[in-house]
Amino acid sequence: MARPKIALIGAGQIGGTLAHLAAMKELGDVVLFDIAEGTPEGKALDIAESGPSEGFDASLKGTQSYADIAGADVCIVTAGVPRKPGMSRDDLLGINLKVMKSVGEGIAANAPDAFVICITNPLDAMVWALREFSGLPHNKVCGMAGVLDSGRFAHFLSEEFNVSMRDVTAFVLGGHGDTMVPSVRYSTVAGIPLPDLVEMGWTTQEKLDAIVQRTRDGGAEIVGLLKTGSAFYAPATSAIEMAEAYLKDQKRVLPCAAYCNGELGVEGMYVGVPTVIGAGGIERIVNITLNEEEQTGFDNSVNAVKGLIEACKGIDNSLA
Ligand code: APR
Repeated sequence: MARPKIALIGAGQIGGTLAHLAAMKELGDVVLFDIAEGTPEGKALDIAESGPSEGFDASLKGTQSYADIAGADVCIVTAGVPRKPGMSRDDLLGINLKVMKSVGEGIAANAPDAFVICITNPLDAMVWALREFSGLPHNKVCGMAGVLDSGRFAHFLSEEFNVSMRDVTAFVLGGHGDTMVPSVRYSTVAGIPLPDLVEMGWTTQEKLDAIVQRTRDGGAEIVGLLKTGSAFYAPATSAIEMAEAYLKDQKRVLPCAAYCNGELGVEGMYVGVPTVIGAGGIERIVNITLNEEEQTGFDNSVNAVKGLIEACKGIDNSLA
């Protein structure tokens, strides 16, 4: 049986890391697409040359032609530009919206059966626009944010409790931005919810509040340290976890930006919710019940995403 084909649209920091991880994990053959001439070819060759040492069987190809992604099983989209000093949120939105249009059309024409994972920011609005432009089924287009945000939350919690990250289950809902909702009630250490751990004296409410805030600011913390770019190792790893769940039909329960059709009270838009990912793409949204405080935070986050989608419609009339 032929190896699966993984198309990476955008061969920047995250795209290159995705290619490396996909090859090392032997998830399939990798095509790196980018408009920057030489970048995808250079990264593909560099990673391919690591193959003899690593011992993986995967081919890697760099390209500027959408025809090369033909028949891809998975497409992971990081194409776009990051926010630069002096650029407003709407400036960024306008630029990346145009990128989503060309990427959406490229995927629709060449890989209409792919499972598409969007990473480009502002995430929840971009994945919505990418779906609109591509016309692919909603269950085959999703956005990577919740796995990353939950990963950051889990990492901070494991440090606070001095326990293995493997035993921490963290849960973050809502949009990928300042309004995200790290859920304390649904996050656990070996099944013990965080509020119980506060009662048991493992931590204090103040420390837990600080960890929740650090999780919300997780992306900015990395940008502040790197100064010339944003996070790429953990974002790439998170998207690979989702791609693997699809390719191997793992039925993983992972939070991601998924299209809601009434679930959690959200109608007709993308936002971060718990999902089941398997061979059917987003097979299910886990329709959890929120308490009053969580619902307020979630509604606030949903409204922020709605604002971005309205802004997209204002920029590109075909979306209205
Ligand atoms: N088609 C294909 N590739 C494009 C296009 C386009 N229309 N426009 C830009 N690109 C490419 C750039 O040439 C660059 O190589 O997208 C790549 C983006 O890479 P980086 O700038 O290194 O950004 P990265 O750190 O990988 O992040 C990508 O993910 O987390 C988000 O906010 C982040 O939106 C950003 C995206």
